[in-house]
Amino acid sequence: MAESMQGMKRTHRCAEVVNAPIGSEVTVMGWVQKNRNKGGIIFVDLRDRSGILQVIFEQGEGDKYIDAEGFAKAEKLRSEFVVAITGTIEKREGAENTNLTTGALELRATYVRILAEAETPPFPIEADSKTKEELRLKYRYLDLRRPDIQHNIMFRSQVTQSVRDFLTKEGFLEIETPILNRSTPEGARDYLVPSRVHPGTFYALPQSPQLFKQILMCSGYDRYFQIAKCFRDEDLRADRQPEFTQIDMELSFVDVDDVIDVNERLIQKLFKDTLNVDVQIPMQRMTWQEAMDRFGSDKPDVRFGMELCDVSETVKDVEFAVFKGALENGGSVRGINAKGQGEMPRKKIDALVDVAKTYGAKGLAYIAIQNDGTIKSSFTKFLTEEQTKALVEKMEGENGDLLLFAADKNKVVWAVLGALRLEIANQLGILKKDDYRFLWVTEFPLLEWSDEENRFQAMHHPFTMPMDEDLPLLDTDPGKVRAKAYDCVLNGVELGGGSVRIHQGDVQERMFKELGIETEAAYEKFGFLLNAFKYGVPPHAGLAFGLDRLVMLMVEADNIREVIAFPKVKDASCLMSDAPNVVDAKQLEELGIGITATEEDAKLAAEEA
Ligand code: AMO
Ligand code: AMP
Repeated sequence: MAESMQGMKRTHRCAEVVNAPIGSEVTVMGWVQKNRNKGGIIFVDLRDRSGILQVIFEQGEGDKYIDAEGFAKAEKLRSEFVVAITGTIEKREGAENTNLTTGALELRATYVRILAEAETPPFPIEADSKTKEELRLKYRYLDLRRPDIQHNIMFRSQVTQSVRDFLTKEGFLEIETPILNRSTPEGARDYLVPSRVHPGTFYALPQSPQLFKQILMCSGYDRYFQIAKCFRDEDLRADRQPEFTQIDMELSFVDVDDVIDVNERLIQKLFKDTLNVDVQIPMQRMTWQEAMDRFGSDKPDVRFGMELCDVSETVKDVEFAVFKGALENGGSVRGINAKGQGEMPRKKIDALVDVAKTYGAKGLAYIAIQNDGTIKSSFTKFLTEEQTKALVEKMEGENGDLLLFAADKNKVVWAVLGALRLEIANQLGILKKDDYRFLWVTEFPLLEWSDEENRFQAMHHPFTMPMDEDLPLLDTDPGKVRAKAYDCVLNGVELGGGSVRIHQGDVQERMFKELGIETEAAYEKFGFLLNAFKYGVPPHAGLAFGLDRLVMLMVEADNIREVIAFPKVKDASCLMSDAPNVVDAKQLEELGIGITATEEDAKLAAEEA
């Protein structure tokens, strides 16, 4: 029978008893991790979020021991029972457990209450669980008891605390922006919420607080931040969730360097506070063009080399149709040198070709230089000996190296080689998670051509300011315009991004024109922001970090689900609560909503996801 807490008060968490003097009386409360009955003595490992404490129940006469009633209760304890125990802190004589913070101590129980009994959990509550993730997420309330997840969730709280602390001291105001908003399609798909009061209309959940934070600048708050929930209906990946959290900020009267400076100091303080890691600032910076040319990615992992090499010039006269075709179509031929991998078995090279194909390559050409200098290659039969030699030289190929080449449009070549360099580094196991290499990628293109829509799209968003020196190009060669946009990259992950915003009406209009948005349509979508700008708008800029990604990298997890208390799975459902769910006909009626999707549609959608 479950007993009440009446008259009992917790004095310490389990691991906090290390601060209690030997011989003092403490009361701890928590879950039974393990219970070992050795005849007259029972050992119980008691667990709470601070750690584990060994409790010893020994029956006997006098204050030091537990009475018969208490001992009988201890005999009943099973895993995950919730108990309150009062007792005396003792030194463990000769049986220290160096794995526990409390390993030199134990609690000799004098009094116990069973606060709740528990059924046997479907998986053991322990670190490094081998349990399938699906089961863990279905029973997330139990999974969240496991020490490694508890560490992540508690660490996350420290991170937000440190961020709040720093930004507040820097003069930022924490301001909440609304969750129920007007839909302004651009970017990812919106999550919609039907309005009951205005049937047939919808709110959209915010993809980010972007427009509101810019309005706050118009309203004179000059430095804003928010730990903001954002919602995007997009395909999930290891570092993407449909709802996620941003450390979002906006500043007035600043330019690129000011935003970068305050954020470098934020990151530096955060890593020092929470991990005791010293981050060197200023951080490395690289333009988008350099990042693509050297690493084939706008979020390069700079923990290792294996940089891309443009060999277009070297191979321009070779009679290999693949290379020729790419160059004739305005593309390029580039390669990477996987040092020391020249004797990679054919099967593994074929696997790399398959990886390349998933990134849009039509194939992957290779030169495997054996340790004795002989060459195995998929294409050098089309080259003269001199041409092969020149190519190997250009790639700085030596005996034992594997040279991989992609020929296509630049976009494809970058994607393929960028991915291959990561794939090979991962295979070689050379990437250390605690080697934190920060990098700012700057000068992103302002616009990106969309073949699908046959028009330019904003690479960041439509309010991003072009670089001053590129402004004239906006009318003549829009594809070449660089933006005052920047991303903060850590070990190949885009941690955050932002930009200086357009605050001049005429520039904004030219921008909308390039994006093919009519003035009228722009007002229809963003009118409240554009109107706000008419009444005195300060120059402003901002940035948002993905909090989940940041914490994921800091705790060295592989997936953001490990740092989110209640995450969703790939098809955007919650396995614990079974969201999303079908709602009452009455609710739909109130909202004036009829459902046209059939069960068949649902099945198809589920399969697609
Ligand atoms: P952006 O869209 O680049 O910028 O988002 C900023 C950061 O948020 C994180 N992020 C995500 N994290 C988890 N799951 C997702 N689905 C997801 N999408 C984005 C990333 C990303 O770098 N309003 C602008 C910022 C600004 O200009 O100030 C914005 O939202 O870490
Ligand atoms: P093929 O003559 O089509 O058999 O191609 C010869 C070699 O070139 C094969 O190893 C292909 O994988 C490779 N290859 C094909 N297309 C490309 C490409 N776009 N870039 C690099 N290599 C390619």
